[in-house]
Amino acid sequence: MRLADCEKIQNQDDYKLYPYELRRLDKDDLPQIMALQAKVISGMDRNDYCVPLSEDEHLKILDGCGESVGVFIEERLVALCGILFPGESENNMAYELNFSPEKLHSVAQLEISLVHPGFQGNDLQQKMAGLLVERAKNNQHCRYLFTTVSPYNYPSLQTVTALGLFIAKVCKKYFEWDRYVVYRDFQKPIELDTANAIAVSNTALEEQQALLDSGYLGFSLLKGEDDIKVLFARKNKEGA
Ligand SMILES: CC(C)(COP(=O)(O)OP(=O)(O)OC[C@H]1O[C@@H](n2cnc3c(N)ncnc32)[C@H](O)[C@@H]1OP(=O)(O)O)[C@@H](O)C(=O)NCCC(=O)NCCS
Repeated sequence: MRLADCEKIQNQDDYKLYPYELRRLDKDDLPQIMALQAKVISGMDRNDYCVPLSEDEHLKILDGCGESVGVFIEERLVALCGILFPGESENNMAYELNFSPEKLHSVAQLEISLVHPGFQGNDLQQKMAGLLVERAKNNQHCRYLFTTVSPYNYPSLQTVTALGLFIAKVCKKYFEWDRYVVYRDFQKPIELDTANAIAVSNTALEEQQALLDSGYLGFSLLKGEDDIKVLFARKNKEGA
């Protein structure tokens, strides 16, 4: 299913602009999905930014437990993003916030985003994730959106905060890697007192944890010359 024919994106190697197509992925795309994942993972500076999915995990998303969208240039897959409806499976990220069993079924979670190194910097993650988030928001079975993100993965943090997800927890996940647990409630949007925000370095995880413990949530980023700051604010009373 074609979702959009979009404007052009720039290749970082030859600086040319290429028209692209954004469409829903299906099982026939699996070989290209695995090839793109291998290419992106092998080109990463740090391996703790992204947990690759197995073929079975990608298939589960494509097969009805979620959906993936991809960006194609002349039929070549150059970017993808996937969302999963995890139900009560142990991978449900809402367990991290001690959600009750009945709430687990209304959770959708962004599982993976991959952009070919030659096409990074075109906001593709935000375009793809934004589309999936809009579709989840319009799904009557879905109330909560979750994902986990490395505190050091600036492009991903930028995307999730721009999409209205809040940092609710700092923890170790997967291979003892640092992760934020971020979420958004579509039904009862959280409102923060952003006029009284506190900026904390993205590496000061203990300071962040202390703020989270006293009722703050992380909501935005400030990128400086050589550091990244995360903005935290308390919930407004009516949004609490
Ligand atoms: C994370 C990822 C999907 C984002 O790619 P993207 O959509 O091209 O990123 P964007 O164009 O939205 O860039 C967002 C910001 O990050 C910056 N950025 C993009 N790629 C970058 C890179 N490789 N290194 C540093 N900064 C980068 C952009 O300049 C932009 O900054 P700004 O908002 O201050 O202008 C891509 O970097 C990637 O595939 N990374 C490896 C896999 C991964 O970490 N996936 C996420 C977890 S599963």
